[in-house]
Amino acid sequence: MRLPGDKSVSHRSVILSSISEGTTRINNFSSSADCRATVECFRELGVDISMEGDSLRVSGVGKSGLRSPAKELFCDNSGTTMRLLAGLLASQAFDSTLTGDESLSKRPMARIADPLSEMGASISLEDGHAPIVIRGRRLKGIEYDSPIASAQIKSAVLLAGLGAEGKTTVIERIGTRDHTERMLRWLGVDVLVQDVEGGRAITVSGDALLKARDIAVPSDISSAMFFLVAAGCLSGSRVVLRDVGMNSSRTAGLDVLRECGVGIEVSDVREVSNEPVADITVNGSLSQPRSRVTVNGSRIPNLIDEIPALSILGTCLDSGLEVRDAAELRVKESDRISAVVTNLRKMGADVDEFDDGFLVRRSVLKGAELDCFGDHRIAMSFAVAGMIAEGETVLKGAECVAVSFPEFFDKMRELSAR
Ligand code: S3P
Repeated sequence: MRLPGDKSVSHRSVILSSISEGTTRINNFSSSADCRATVECFRELGVDISMEGDSLRVSGVGKSGLRSPAKELFCDNSGTTMRLLAGLLASQAFDSTLTGDESLSKRPMARIADPLSEMGASISLEDGHAPIVIRGRRLKGIEYDSPIASAQIKSAVLLAGLGAEGKTTVIERIGTRDHTERMLRWLGVDVLVQDVEGGRAITVSGDALLKARDIAVPSDISSAMFFLVAAGCLSGSRVVLRDVGMNSSRTAGLDVLRECGVGIEVSDVREVSNEPVADITVNGSLSQPRSRVTVNGSRIPNLIDEIPALSILGTCLDSGLEVRDAAELRVKESDRISAVVTNLRKMGADVDEFDDGFLVRRSVLKGAELDCFGDHRIAMSFAVAGMIAEGETVLKGAECVAVSFPEFFDKMRELSAR
């Protein structure tokens, strides 16, 4: 099966092609509501974007060609849209306001407003949250040592750096997804990455120009995880997923699956638009690990979005699964630690909750009526839980899967029918 395009790469493809010189064709663009929100924001900023199926044609306007928006820019449920746009818009010659839905309006935004203000931006928040009101002005490059391991913060500062005077450097203590850096290079921008004590420094220059170049988006490894976990738990399954993104800043979830005893094979590794892709085959025959699988430390940012799905696999492991150092999960589309623990307990699982994670012990899941907490990854994880549980599971509000993966239930049905 082939899954839709990666959400993180798709967001960046619209953002960066919009400020490129020339026209870009984007293939396998994500069908998610989140990426649609990014497209709508750039249309509002005066960029001509046409869409046909999963192909986009973006007429780039260059770094200073965006138009002052006539209304607020609505980012819907998408944190990536809001945080990356805040970085880009901070240096524009016009003012803008970014708003979001109820969930996005509760998520922390000081984490980007702080470094952007250090660059000279005028950004105001309401009690640390959206709406974000930006008064566009000339910025100056800074060196920012990010206290939170977040690709959204890194990308917001680098995008601001493209419109700032001099050089802008982000120091990462723990590596996060590097799609922004890779795509900037694909578009001809010099991105300097240097090892520094205790981390690495990523530098861009304010005089960089982006040259339009077609982009093929790999399939989404975070969406793939639901199928990999389902196949891993349901013995006798075999699933082959084609053209999945294999960026090493996103593949720790595959390592954890292997540690859990799931048979995974990666084949035909190749590059598209400066991102590695491969085919992944998973066989549903768990070989139990000898000790508890622990997911913590610097691996967390690499698989942060896959943790709810992995929690379901934990219920199939004799020695269980423990997740630590993942307090960031509490400020995602929902409090994902609380949502996972609440729903697993409703299904009869034996789970401990910690401030920064949870411990799931081997449990026989029973069907239950569950809340999705308006969170797409909770909905898809518990759809998988429902597939391995005894009896029927009802997911209330499951339509929220459209935030990242509108085709999820169709694809799952297609596989189950084979
Ligand atoms: C993303 C980065 C991660 C991830 C989110 C997408 C990105 O968030 O959870 O789904 O595209 O940069 P943080 O940077 O806040 O950790």
